[in-house]
Amino acid sequence: MSDREKLKREACLSAVEEIKHGMILGLGSGSTVRFALEEIGNRIASGALRGIRGIPSSGETEKLSLKYGIPLTSFDEQSTIDLDIDGADEVDPHLNLIKGGGGALLREKILAQASRRTVIVVDESKISRSLGEKRPVPVEIIPFSWKAEVAYLESLGSRAVLRQDGPGNPFVTDQGNYIIDCDFKEIRDPAGLARILSQRAAIMEHGLFIGLAAEVIVAGADGIRRMSRGGTSGEA
Ligand code: A5P
Repeated sequence: MSDREKLKREACLSAVEEIKHGMILGLGSGSTVRFALEEIGNRIASGALRGIRGIPSSGETEKLSLKYGIPLTSFDEQSTIDLDIDGADEVDPHLNLIKGGGGALLREKILAQASRRTVIVVDESKISRSLGEKRPVPVEIIPFSWKAEVAYLESLGSRAVLRQDGPGNPFVTDQGNYIIDCDFKEIRDPAGLARILSQRAAIMEHGLFIGLAAEVIVAGADGIRRMSRGGTSGEA
């Protein structure tokens, strides 16, 4: 396991500590959360966690959850999630996020909005001063008008690129939509941009997660630190 993978795993173990018996969990997507899924599975198998059920944020997470023995449920049965654990592509000092690098942003945002508490797990490389510094904002659109949406997103000042799965092959989300990755560079007003993006008919959702994370667990070479709305605390 690389050092970066070890850090991701450490952050996840710390998030899993917050799970209590009987909780309904939001199960995020990505290479970081994978370690949390594995650990949740281990704790269920050993009897350390009982009565847990999870709602997966992607087809990939659903497969992994089944592999690790995590019982699943859905919004047909639940209206509220107790604890949502997810990764992120970029995190600013106000705990606003860019998500959707893996293409699961729509369901991930649905889970976060339906959760009492959302905990984000990242390694230090994801932390920035301003969103957009490191990563483009993924925007999920219906395929119908994709070229018009690229032009619209460029008119907002981004460099907008339709995500590809391979040459000439658009990436398709779990909902059958396309993703346009929008490089805005530093975003001075992420909440304002989020409002503008939400008004466009073809935009199903965007990867700006504003005010949704209660806590971000960051694993760095010096150990784990927790960013929360009240400030930062270290554990290592
Ligand atoms: C999935 O669509 C994303 O929002 C992921 O949560 C995010 O990209 C983090 O992924 P990694 O943990 O693989 O970096």
